Amino acid sequence: MKMDVLEHMKWRYAVKKFDSEKLLPEEKVERLKEAFNLTATSYGLQPITLLVIKSKDIQKRLVAHSFEQQQVAQASHILVICIKNTIDADYISRYFEQIKKMRNVSDEILEPFKNDLVDSFSKKDIEEIKRWSTNQAYLAMGNLLTVCAMEKIDSCPMEGFEPEAYDRLLKLKEKGLTSVLVMPVGYRADDDMFAGFKKVRKNLDESVIDIS
Ligand SMILES: Cc1cc2nc3c(=O)[nH]c(=O)nc-3n(C[C@H](O)[C@H](O)[C@H](O)COP(=O)(O)O)c2cc1C
Repeated sequence: MKMDVLEHMKWRYAVKKFDSEKLLPEEKVERLKEAFNLTATSYGLQPITLLVIKSKDIQKRLVAHSFEQQQVAQASHILVICIKNTIDADYISRYFEQIKKMRNVSDEILEPFKNDLVDSFSKKDIEEIKRWSTNQAYLAMGNLLTVCAMEKIDSCPMEGFEPEAYDRLLKLKEKGLTSVLVMPVGYRADDDMFAGFKKVRKNLDESVIDIS
């Protein structure tokens, strides 16, 4: 029977204990990569990169930098959503080259948009660009959480980790990246007591204001 999207969202929860014996099939991981890449981003600039970790050794080492949260060691895979450290004229130009190629649009049409964007980004300081990129990372995680639910993949969204330690251990600086969010994915353990907990959410009328 086809499940409603809200039913999928009720099925998911932030998993505290994964079944470390159960691994995600490769095609499921591929779907998550695609879903990440399909995430809408501001201007379409995709200032984010997904790391997909499938190494029990690395996972175990990351636990110490994740406030001892064991999900990181137990999960089938660890997704780390990273932001790019530089969004400069070169980066923006490459994006416009891609638009040109994919949509067959002339330079004449694209040039003013490109110049505006290059100009606007050249006026932002590093912190502002970092905040903007980080917003895109959160959006990607939101997407992934829903896609995971619909694919019956368990997950745990995580801010509880030390980005600098992750960056060091995963050699992210060398890749021009900074880690922002972590998301273990896999299958819940049969005895994860959190699976049985009722969802705690506000009443809809506290959370939504209708204006007509
Ligand atoms: C941005 C973000 C960061 C979170 N960080 C952690 C974390 O580090 N560890 C954890 O166990 N849960 C973490 N959570 C899970 C939340 O506590 C959980 O989503 C929330 O309580 C709602 O419960 P539910 O997801 O089970 O419905 C995080 C959730 C979000 C959205």
